[in-house]
Amino acid sequence: MSTKDAPTTDLAVGDINLASIDTFMRPDLAGLFRKLRQEAPVSWHQHPDSGKKGFWAVVRYDDIVAVNRDPATFSNREGVQVQFEGDLPHAAEGSMIEKDPPEHTRFRRLVGPTFSSMSVAKLQDQIRARVTTILDSLDGDDEIDFVRDFATPLPLGVFYDLMGVPAEDQRRMLDLADRTFFSGDPRFGGDQQGVGEAGREIQAYGRWLAEQRQKEPKNDVMSSLVAATIDGQRISIDELGSFFGLLGAAGADTVRSSISYGLRAFTDFPEQRDRWLKDLDGQAANATEEIIRWASPTMHMRRTATRDTEVAGQKIAAGDKVAVWFASGNFDESKFADPYCFDIGRSPNPQMAFGMAGPHFCLGAHLAKLEIRIAYTELLRRYPKVYATGPVDRLRSNFINGPFALPARLGPRNG
Ligand code: HEM
Repeated sequence: MSTKDAPTTDLAVGDINLASIDTFMRPDLAGLFRKLRQEAPVSWHQHPDSGKKGFWAVVRYDDIVAVNRDPATFSNREGVQVQFEGDLPHAAEGSMIEKDPPEHTRFRRLVGPTFSSMSVAKLQDQIRARVTTILDSLDGDDEIDFVRDFATPLPLGVFYDLMGVPAEDQRRMLDLADRTFFSGDPRFGGDQQGVGEAGREIQAYGRWLAEQRQKEPKNDVMSSLVAATIDGQRISIDELGSFFGLLGAAGADTVRSSISYGLRAFTDFPEQRDRWLKDLDGQAANATEEIIRWASPTMHMRRTATRDTEVAGQKIAAGDKVAVWFASGNFDESKFADPYCFDIGRSPNPQMAFGMAGPHFCLGAHLAKLEIRIAYTELLRRYPKVYATGPVDRLRSNFINGPFALPARLGPRNG
């Protein structure tokens, strides 16, 4: 295991603004979070130009857990991104992530069994087949854009396969997903309005698919969701539409981010790749956890205070936005020894990239881990020397730690 120096920044705490997207393009981002953890565990951040209300940033691991544990005080109903004022349509609009208990609990009980570790384990062969198809399409290439050619088609393809989106519709869904993904990153030609419209179209497609499966069930996840009942209750077509939108958004951006930052990490810490190659299957579970911690794909989740309260001694007023920063908690020195070292053998590894201790803990965590595990074991089996040839070109966002592009070389093919 090699160590890495703790990151630093020249900015003073008062000059750090997590509401400004420019902050997330800075090379010292990790240093900014470290400084906040050390000097200002709960701090106020004002949106620069938009006139929107600012938010409190909670950056220490234990404080994040405390906020997550108390959904009665820290609600999701007003939206989960700091940039949102509840004013714009989006793919996950009206879905379970924007509900609080007990409404949320009812829905979670309905959909939970479909995403349990046992249900997801049955999807292994289907996922491996999708990964193999993508790898086959790369054979003969050497230089690739790892994000475009591997990390993006994989989670989307898996999602469409699992939900039962017919092959002839997948191109159109991909285009829509592209428009929502980059949440207004100008390089993708999107603005927030366009993102919202694409989100609504995705939801409409989800409703259509649910109706098809109601009439004629097949062997796919949408058919199980349509049939799911608890205490005689079913999921409504509207709920299935918003759930479909949430799954597409929550499941694709995040897995793509993990796979991409994983390659950057294996390039920066080549001894960790060599270590994994010695026992690909045996070390896969640990390595996957560390890849996900390292990427911390969903940088924050926002809640809204339902009453006057306090976090770590900081007074917070009813109605204030409160953002918990998993991207900071995952590098909290009080929980992770040598947090800036990428270590596939890290044990324990209480990474909080999927959330921690709250009712919204990622529903897709088992599926995500399976996808990333199969993606990497198959990739390394075929291309054991694959490496990144440049830095990750980052998406302009303070929500998803998204890669825009990552140049890579596959290296010689095994066998
Ligand atoms: C590495 C990949 C992933 C990461 C890092 C991730 C992260 C997260 C986080 C941070 C939350 C919110 C936790 C909270 O508020 O406390 C969440 C919720 C959720 N995720 Fe994931 N996610 C990933 C993959 C997936 C996948 C593959 C799916 C399904 C296709 C999925 C579906 C969901 C859903 C439905 C929720 C809402 C759960 C609820 O409200 O109860 N996620 N995820």
